[in-house]
Amino acid sequence: MANVKLAVIYYSSTGTNYQLAQWAEAGGKEAGADVKVFKVPETAPQAAIESNPAWKAHYDATKDVPEVTLNDLEEADAMIFSVPTRFGNMPSQMKAFLDTTGGLWFNGKLVNKVVSAMTSAQNSHGGQEATILSLYTTMYHWGAIVAAPGYTDPILFEAGGNPYGTSVTVDQNGKMKENVEAAVKHQAKRTVQIADAIKNANK
Ligand SMILES: Cc1cc2nc3c(=O)[nH]c(=O)nc-3n(C[C@H](O)[C@H](O)[C@H](O)COP(=O)(O)O)c2cc1C
Repeated sequence: MANVKLAVIYYSSTGTNYQLAQWAEAGGKEAGADVKVFKVPETAPQAAIESNPAWKAHYDATKDVPEVTLNDLEEADAMIFSVPTRFGNMPSQMKAFLDTTGGLWFNGKLVNKVVSAMTSAQNSHGGQEATILSLYTTMYHWGAIVAAPGYTDPILFEAGGNPYGTSVTVDQNGKMKENVEAAVKHQAKRTVQIADAIKNANK
């Protein structure tokens, strides 16, 4: 699957979704894909970031992660998105980026991209499924193919059993409560495998 290009695109304030993105990167590479990790541009005022030490620390630590561009979406065969749950929805930073994809959508450039999504939340029933589905709603409009994990591997039950995409609960210090690394890697591999099948079917 060396010819599959996977873009892992995330937003994170305090590092959880960056870690999920890194596990997805590792899983995608294990599946043989050419993987790149991108963050979406931060839109919060600098004063807001400075007011939260964990946010500031993560912001500084990931300064060198490239920001995603529309060209990165066009080039990718597959994309995995990872965002924190915010009031049962994606954060505005990701929505702002997705709202710039109108031109790609209009020109059919996102058709048959294989997509999958992950999230984190502070509460075990804090809106994880809703957040992932809100991401997929945009992608259905793109004409993308959603590669949800379902229950395609027993490891998913150990990771909380979210069939829409891997989700993890974080405590108030940002520590993950479940071990979802293997589930994220499974999700990434499945996304790459489906992208490979779609790409080769379209040749
Ligand atoms: C504005 C805001 C809204 C949030 N809404 C929710 C929520 O609806 N449910 C929940 O369980 N956690 C909620 N959280 C907690 C975040 O989901 C949690 O901080 C995030 O998953 C950590 O991810 P990160 O480390 O990648 O930033 C919220 C946090 C903020 C700042």
